[in-house]
Amino acid sequence: MSLTYRPRRLRRTPTLRRMVRETVLRTEDLIAPLFIAEGRGVARPIGSMPGQAQLSVDQIDREIDDLMELRVPAVLLFGIPARKDSNGSAAWDPAGPVPSAIRAIRSRAPDMAVIADVCLCEYTDHGHCGLINTRDDELVYNPHEPEGALLNDPTLELLARAAVAYAEAGADIVAPSAMMDGQVAAIRAGLDRAGHLSVPIMAYAAKFASAFYGPFREAAESTPRFGDRRAYQMDPANGREALREVALDAAEGADMLMVKPAGAYLDVIRMVRERYDLPLAAYQVSGEYAMLKAAAQNGWLDERRAAMESLLGIKRAGADLIITYYAKEAARWLIEDRDGKAL
Ligand code: PBG
Repeated sequence: MSLTYRPRRLRRTPTLRRMVRETVLRTEDLIAPLFIAEGRGVARPIGSMPGQAQLSVDQIDREIDDLMELRVPAVLLFGIPARKDSNGSAAWDPAGPVPSAIRAIRSRAPDMAVIADVCLCEYTDHGHCGLINTRDDELVYNPHEPEGALLNDPTLELLARAAVAYAEAGADIVAPSAMMDGQVAAIRAGLDRAGHLSVPIMAYAAKFASAFYGPFREAAESTPRFGDRRAYQMDPANGREALREVALDAAEGADMLMVKPAGAYLDVIRMVRERYDLPLAAYQVSGEYAMLKAAAQNGWLDERRAAMESLLGIKRAGADLIITYYAKEAARWLIEDRDGKAL
């Protein structure tokens, strides 16, 4: 049989396959999330995220050195404060875990890009991402909203305050994840007012109310004490709405966009890639990591191949950058690939 096109011709050898490979995952694409606990001497492994731990600032040196040596360019910081309160005030405390970690990383690894997550859920005693409507707080109480509802506009100022605190500490990028309407504009205005005109915003533009955040909430101790986040994070069913969210964030001044989670939202990544020119990140979240780890630990999946395939899929869908708990391992695997230890 004479076939004009036989796709298998170019799959014959590793070299040919390498030459026609369309998508390449690079170490530069990776961003490593870190959980920074307040206090000293804390190195608390996170049960549902094997290989990840809550670390206090005095314990992060090795992690930072490893990431630098592997040339992972950036970290994304989450703080776990010692004390939480109703308005999440530890979020903008200059002595809090995130500003302290930013300063420590700045001096130890000046070339590392430090991204600070901006949200209140790790800092509020109720675990929601903003202020809650309650009669107890006369300053913000809105009688026209139900008790327990999340107050969008009063939250904006607090998010801006946190973003400014991270910028003052030396963050390279701030990444608002609270899903409040108007948060990018509020943070941009707050940063500019404080003189931080050069600090970019990576907007969690399309963040879905996902079951895949489960392990993160253990890691960040941020499970809501009542209700859930569906009144502010997006409905997983809505792709077109994701584009409206992205349009708003772009118009409000986002410098980079993000879709989160990644694996179950590859279509959203692709749509955003096709319509926007801004750099696009995707967040392979805790549950995606936990699934791969659990299957690997049971011997049900080849971890390296499955993890790299998942990252490549996210890249192929259109992400420029991938926030992933696999950053360090993936960087190591990429070096091994380059050195020819695997095909
Ligand atoms: C909120 C935030 C969350 C994640 C990142 N930022 C959790 C949430 O919305 O409940 C989840 C990340 C992950 O699951 O890895 N500050």
